[in-house]
Amino acid sequence: TALYCVFGNPVAHSRSPDIHHAFAAQRDDDLRYEKREAPLDDFIGMLKAFREEGGQGANVTVPFKEQAFDLCDAVTERAGQAAAVNTLWWDGDQLHGDNTDGAGIVKDIRDNQGWVIAGKRVLVLGAGGAVRGVMGPLLAEKPTLVRVANRTAEKAEILARRFMSGDSSPVLGSGLDGLTGQFDLVINAISAGLHGEMPDLPGGLLAEGAVAYDMVYGKELTPFMIWAQQQGAVATADGLGMLVEQAAEAFEIWRGWRPDSASVMAMLR
Ligand code: ATR
Repeated sequence: TALYCVFGNPVAHSRSPDIHHAFAAQRDDDLRYEKREAPLDDFIGMLKAFREEGGQGANVTVPFKEQAFDLCDAVTERAGQAAAVNTLWWDGDQLHGDNTDGAGIVKDIRDNQGWVIAGKRVLVLGAGGAVRGVMGPLLAEKPTLVRVANRTAEKAEILARRFMSGDSSPVLGSGLDGLTGQFDLVINAISAGLHGEMPDLPGGLLAEGAVAYDMVYGKELTPFMIWAQQQGAVATADGLGMLVEQAAEAFEIWRGWRPDSASVMAMLR
């Protein structure tokens, strides 16, 4: 039996074991996927112990993605851009890392929701680790521009500079206060800790026909989805699809075959 896990703190709520077991069942792939809560000061010790038990790979969630990146001997280009890793695997004693979050959100937005990113004006709310993880793949879709707006304006400005390159779409950073413009796609990455609340945003940010995506997911409509609908969004989605798609991408790296994500999304709903 091949052994995998997700490291996080907290991690009890994670749906990743259900998702990966459901993927594995599609082809009778023999794997076990566990949750491992690492102490905040000993992710490295837990990772080593897991490898000694025969672990072949792992997912990493909050707050260890940056540490995981630092521990890798080799990372993919998109993980390098994010400076964060959510997928680990060993090749002998070499630790490899990738970040599949950006591919996951793009796949869900473009292929599952059927929304276009290319040529669209994108607004991203938040400028934390979650945003760093998805900016590279988002920009690769060639939006007209990406505006990153964050409570702390300076963090958005730094993030925008990090991703603005000669041939990329313009990336602009600013605060949430005084935010202006009209956007076709709004992505919320303001942390999940913000229960039942949305920061005060000016009206009129959504262009005619705009759509809205929340990286957070829940049983009901999220506060951001409700806000977007009130602002005239023609469609909204939560982040469950992103969760399943980033997992499918990790699964494929580990197991060498692509699982079907639609049936697993339906199961989770
Ligand atoms: P994550 O991994 O979810 O991105 P993070 O790196 O801690 O977590 O980032 C949290 C994001 O949510 C940040 O953009 C944060 O804004 P600041 O950079 O100004 O802290 C945002 N955030 C958290 N609580 C918020 C609130 N009450 N109002 C607005 N933004 C909030």
